[in-house]
Amino acid sequence: MNFYQNKTILITGASSGIGLEFANQLNEFGAKLIITARNKDKLNELAENYQGATVIPGDLSDKTFPSQLYNEIQSKGLDVDILINNAGFGSIGKLLKSDLETYESMVQVNITALTQLSHLFITDMAAKGKGGIINVASVAAFQPVPYMNVYSATKAYVKSFSLALHEEYSKKGIVVTAVCPGYTKTNFQNAAKMSSDAVGIKMLPKDVVWQSLIAHKKGKNLVINGFINKIMAHSNRFLPSFLTLAVARNLMKKA
Ligand SMILES: NC(=O)c1ccc[n+]([C@@H]2O[C@H](COP(=O)([O-])OP(=O)(O)OC[C@H]3O[C@@H](n4cnc5c(N)ncnc54)[C@H](OP(=O)(O)O)[C@@H]3O)[C@@H](O)[C@H]2O)c1
Repeated sequence: MNFYQNKTILITGASSGIGLEFANQLNEFGAKLIITARNKDKLNELAENYQGATVIPGDLSDKTFPSQLYNEIQSKGLDVDILINNAGFGSIGKLLKSDLETYESMVQVNITALTQLSHLFITDMAAKGKGGIINVASVAAFQPVPYMNVYSATKAYVKSFSLALHEEYSKKGIVVTAVCPGYTKTNFQNAAKMSSDAVGIKMLPKDVVWQSLIAHKKGKNLVINGFINKIMAHSNRFLPSFLTLAVARNLMKKA
């Protein structure tokens, strides 16, 4: 995909799963990568295979890190064409299964850091009159998900925020795409302490990323990855919420 060639692309959560796959595919397309996540060793190992990649490790649950990341990118003289806000995590169980600190951290990483980075980089993009943001939401953005209460709410924010941003900035040459994967084969389930194979068919990160890069290139504001996920997401518009909540509760209880 020539569209991504020579573009400078910042990917958060590039050490694993969907973010790692974004890095692999974009490297193949000739993009210049800036990769970030907490796992510095993994990022350095990956960067050896990417031509001229820049590694800036850090923890997005630290609210000072997004601006540090932005400043470090500026100080290196790099100009970000596309920002991929991919880092995120969830936790499974009723609200009291996890402590408040976990939820605060989840809100910081999934919502606040994504908003901070969007605000910082869109300032430069608006001045140039071009740029792009890919925000990784989830099919969980389409309805409240019992047993993934805070997580699904964070993803509803990501989808809503992204669609609004696209509407505000697309005429200024900035495409904002909300990516909504369903169950995807990554480390996400481990990190969320979910029992695997409980929530149906898993997609591969390579398919999620490929579809997302095509959608972004076409200027789309939203991509729901996979046919079944599309049906699930859209069915919420036609079915009563007591039914969709009950289905989600039963599905997630197994997880
Ligand atoms: N897999 C699914 O079923 C699924 C479905 C829908 C949406 N998603 C979304 O897809 C995105 C990527 O997740 P994934 O499935 O690829 O899971 P993953 O394999 O667990 O990857 C998560 C990435 O986020 C990074 N990350 C987590 N906490 C961080 C923090 N505090 N600071 C900086 N980076 C952090 C991790 O890196 P470090 O650990 O090195 O920091 C890792 O690179 C997430 O936003 C997730 O919500 C996943």
